[in-house]
Amino acid sequence: MNTLCKTICRISGAESVELGEVIQSLWSGYGVIQRADLYGVERRSVGDSVPVVIKHIDISHARANPRGWASDISHQRKVRSYQVEKTFYELFSEQCEQECQVPELIAADEIEDEGGWVIVLTDLNFLGFDSRKNHVDQQDIHACLSWLANFHATFMGNAATRLWPVGTYWHLETRPDELAAMSDGALKNSAGLIDRRLNEATYQSLVHGDAKVANFCFSKRDPSCVAAVDFQYVGRGCGMKDVAYFISSCLSEQAAVRQQDSLLSFYFGKLRFALAKRNSEINFPALECEWRELYPYAWADFCRFLAGWSPGHWKLNSYSDQITQSVLERFEKN
Ligand SMILES: Nc1ncnc2c1ncn2[C@@H]1O[C@H](COP(=O)(O)OP(=O)(O)O)[C@@H](O)[C@H]1O
Ligand SMILES: [Mg+2]
Repeated sequence: MNTLCKTICRISGAESVELGEVIQSLWSGYGVIQRADLYGVERRSVGDSVPVVIKHIDISHARANPRGWASDISHQRKVRSYQVEKTFYELFSEQCEQECQVPELIAADEIEDEGGWVIVLTDLNFLGFDSRKNHVDQQDIHACLSWLANFHATFMGNAATRLWPVGTYWHLETRPDELAAMSDGALKNSAGLIDRRLNEATYQSLVHGDAKVANFCFSKRDPSCVAAVDFQYVGRGCGMKDVAYFISSCLSEQAAVRQQDSLLSFYFGKLRFALAKRNSEINFPALECEWRELYPYAWADFCRFLAGWSPGHWKLNSYSDQITQSVLERFEKN
């Protein structure tokens, strides 16, 4: 049995494990996402085995790199992101009910001194979430927005202890290189103000932090329902950051202009319902009012990242420009 299989057996209590399809490789070949079957575990099994997905990263050898990584911000961000993902599955994921389904954690392990991680999750394909999409229709978009609304409702007011204090992979504080690379101008000058406005919002929840279409798993059986994966950048935040980024991941500029109002209304309808279901005493009109006002700030914040990371990116278009401009004008007036 190879080392990975031994680790999986040790942490999950399985008698044996059979590795299957490699879904993708991670972090310059230091990791892999792979299907596997666990044998001899007392869990909901399909036949005599439990189908799982393993997210495995081992940078312990790479860490011997003499150049050192202590000062490498992108390296540190990634290391932290895997710790955060493991923590999310261990301490938060159980709160996610059917309306914001996530994989169930079977076992997780961290190699000492940030050397690597093994996360063993139930395979969502066997729960009916076996479709992945590049192109989405209205029903798919609604299913994802409904997932986001329920996720935000579930964690409304959560302190995000041991997750990112500010969620999303583009958060300003973690992206100094991209900020430095931006050309001078109003967006660069206002980057800190935009970030502050979002962080100082009264209503905060947990944001997924990378809620693009590729991180949702769709179900043919129930097209109104999706599950989500990839919690490396989950942390405290205003839900609009997920909504704006999700819209940027699947709508053209024309469609975003056309559908913005109806999609926001759909999202807030789901959020209201999800909070009521949880007997939340939150002042919903005040929450909706604040978050609607922050929707353009969430776009501007993401555009700030894109402008430094990939200035010609297709997501920087007339829709995102116009929204960003509207935010910058507000700062100029004040
Ligand atoms: N538990 C799971 N069940 C089914 N599919 C999964 C599961 N976890 C990940 N996947 C699939 O693997 C892909 C990559 O996983 P993800 O955690 O997003 O890795 P990365 O950080 O490289 O994006 C996902 O987009 C999804 O299609
Ligand atoms: Mg992913």
